Amino acid sequence: MWRVLDGAPVDELSPQDVENLRTLAAWMKTGAGSQLYQQIERLTHLGSERYNVVPIVTLVHVVPGALFLFAAPLQLIPRFRSRRPGIHRRLGYVLLALAIPYAFTGIFFSIHEPVFGPLAALASGLAGAWFICCAVLAYLAIRKRDIERHREWMLRMLAVAYGIAAVRLSFLAIIAVFPIDVAAAGTLSFWVGWLISVLPTEWWIRRTARQPQALRWAS
Ligand code: HEM
Repeated sequence: MWRVLDGAPVDELSPQDVENLRTLAAWMKTGAGSQLYQQIERLTHLGSERYNVVPIVTLVHVVPGALFLFAAPLQLIPRFRSRRPGIHRRLGYVLLALAIPYAFTGIFFSIHEPVFGPLAALASGLAGAWFICCAVLAYLAIRKRDIERHREWMLRMLAVAYGIAAVRLSFLAIIAVFPIDVAAAGTLSFWVGWLISVLPTEWWIRRTARQPQALRWAS
């Protein structure tokens, strides 16, 4: 990132990208000459170029995103909520403020030259729009002092936020298990990853609905 801002070539791989490629090749027991390795290397180049051409937008996505993902679990700790409601409220506003640049730049990256094509862009764009929708509904609910709805919409919002990790892991699982094209695995991972994050959360929300203890528990 900083090298790109200093004028380095935009298609240059970061040392971390190179390390990730090596780890992946070792994990898949494949050599640098294999077709699979070359496909992944090409996608890594495409991916980093796509971020490097817009380094400021990338920064505005990854810095608030990392802070959000790091701090959001604190909001789920029941003790923290009951003993320090003021901190929950203030941290809540900070998280919502971080969610704005994180979500809008996320939607930008969903549709801006998507590496895995239009179907992956659709999954990612829908996830971004749903994230914003959940945040707004969670906020409106707590302004009406409807704690149950606030909890439900916040859980849905967090399921989308952490869903990106499920997208990446499902990509690795798909290429490890199925002999399909890497680009097709990428597209599939965007749908599978968000669905395995959002659907069980929905199941949990329904299962714990109207249970008074759910408002005290972590979720
Ligand atoms: C990332 C997740 C969460 C965020 C960003 C968040 C954000 C917020 C915000 C901004 C407020 C203050 C609203 C106001 O000023 O009126 C608030 C209040 C509240 N939230 Fe959350 N919240 C989250 C998760 C949860 C969860 C899972 C629960 C579980 C029940 C919860 C329960 C409450 C309660 C009880 C209040 C009222 C606190 C008070 O004013 O005494 N929140 N939250």
